[in-house]
Amino acid sequence: MHKKQAFGFQDHIPDESKQGEVLVAEKEIPSDSKQFYVESYGCAMNFSDTEVVASILKEENYFPTKEMSNADLILINTCSIREKAEQNVRQRLTVFNQIKKEKPATLIGVLGCMAERLKTKFLDEEKLVDIVVGPDAYRDLPKLIDTAKGGERTINVLLSREETYADISPVRLDSNGVTSFISIMRGCDNMCSFCVVPFTRGRERSRDVFSILAEAEDLYKKGYREVTLLGQNVDSYKWENPESKQVVSFAELLVLVSKVHPDLRIRFSTSHPKDITDEVMYAIRDHENICNYIHLPVQSGSSRVLKLMNRTYDRPWYKQKIDRIREIIPECSISSDVIAGFCTETEEDHQETLSMMEYANYCLSYMFYYSERPGTLAERKYEDDIPLVVKKRRLSEIVAKQKEISHANNLSTVGKTYRVLIEGDSKKSDKDFKGRNSGFLLIVFPKTGKHKVGDYVNVEITSATSNTMLGKIVQL
Ligand code: SAH
Ligand code: SF4
Ligand code: F3S
Repeated sequence: MHKKQAFGFQDHIPDESKQGEVLVAEKEIPSDSKQFYVESYGCAMNFSDTEVVASILKEENYFPTKEMSNADLILINTCSIREKAEQNVRQRLTVFNQIKKEKPATLIGVLGCMAERLKTKFLDEEKLVDIVVGPDAYRDLPKLIDTAKGGERTINVLLSREETYADISPVRLDSNGVTSFISIMRGCDNMCSFCVVPFTRGRERSRDVFSILAEAEDLYKKGYREVTLLGQNVDSYKWENPESKQVVSFAELLVLVSKVHPDLRIRFSTSHPKDITDEVMYAIRDHENICNYIHLPVQSGSSRVLKLMNRTYDRPWYKQKIDRIREIIPECSISSDVIAGFCTETEEDHQETLSMMEYANYCLSYMFYYSERPGTLAERKYEDDIPLVVKKRRLSEIVAKQKEISHANNLSTVGKTYRVLIEGDSKKSDKDFKGRNSGFLLIVFPKTGKHKVGDYVNVEITSATSNTMLGKIVQL
């Protein structure tokens, strides 16, 4: 879920990397335009923000290029979630600096969470960076670029309580033309002790419901068939209509978006276990096009560790949430994020994480070892006392456990038939399509010549490994 993508946005499956075409046709690009090159790192929200930035830049006559050596402006949208993410950014900056040395007029800008975390330190540390912009200051980019063109290095990292970029229509970058993200909120008011996001993204705020619906309608008209509603904690979405004073909850938003068109599928991410409501589950159950899939990060299976993580739920509470989902939506796939080796974690705690993974029967997990982040509660209060070798060993056990669970789940689908949205050619062959079922299962199947990308087809699963499902199109 957290990785680099050169000017595009990622599929949120870890082993999938794509570099499609920019949806700006050559003929639309005015001859006097300038070019920007952008790389994005981190979560889907960051990739979604890059599309907002592309839209702001388009107004200034900047168009995306895949060739960084052609670019007038090189941007990197950064992530701070783990130390490794920041190291990657530093490495990329050395590559960009090379270009700047050859072509000094090229401007280099750092966007996103690392810009927000390091602020002016970035300009001190990275001598060739011209512009530093935090996630809430993208509207200021044109001004910052002008200042930088005048030879002055410049920064805006002000966080906002209101900014949602609601009125900005994102320029879809590197899109498959079928699936898209829609940001519905920004920031996070939780204080998970390991997490840097509240510091880099600021306070939680929800986007105007009408602008979300307009974006979904527009995407549908353009041929998109799936939208993923994004937020760090989507279940706390809450928007008050300033005129009627009516308050829209996340469950209500889901239902409203589901009405855009029956062929527009809806997914959402991320759900915090403490906030997901029965109403959200009923919305999934009662609306065919709201997918049977919930990303419900557990982080740890141990109540003691969960308390230190400040997740505000414990093991029995999380289990009961899983039970409730299974009760209301028996067919629902559930995925998770897991952290190995948080402060003071014992072997018993670790075993509880493994057993929780079995209990929840996750279809997939994003798995990490703990990386201490400056300024977080955990950094201030607890010692990062688990040796790296132990963290890595526990992580490998967690990965092996997930593989085992996925394999068993995947095998159990052989012979079943699912409604699948065709997303594009499979990675390995243009004779095969790839697509997903409602439960987010990726399936590869031969083309028959009758269907195209964006169509729904019924696919029977013919074989399965821990990460690839093969099938064939069938008529029902
Ligand atoms: N808002 C989401 C997660 C956002 S960050 C949620 O609440 O679930 C994505 C994932 O990165 C987290 O779920 C967590 O598993 C992982 N993560 C966050 N901080 C981390 C850290 N300091 N070290 C290792 N993994 C971390
Ligand atoms: Fe980080 Fe917790 Fe907020 Fe997720 S809910 S972004 S893990 S603080
Ligand atoms: Fe990374 Fe910022 Fe997302 S820290 S995970 S890019 S919110």
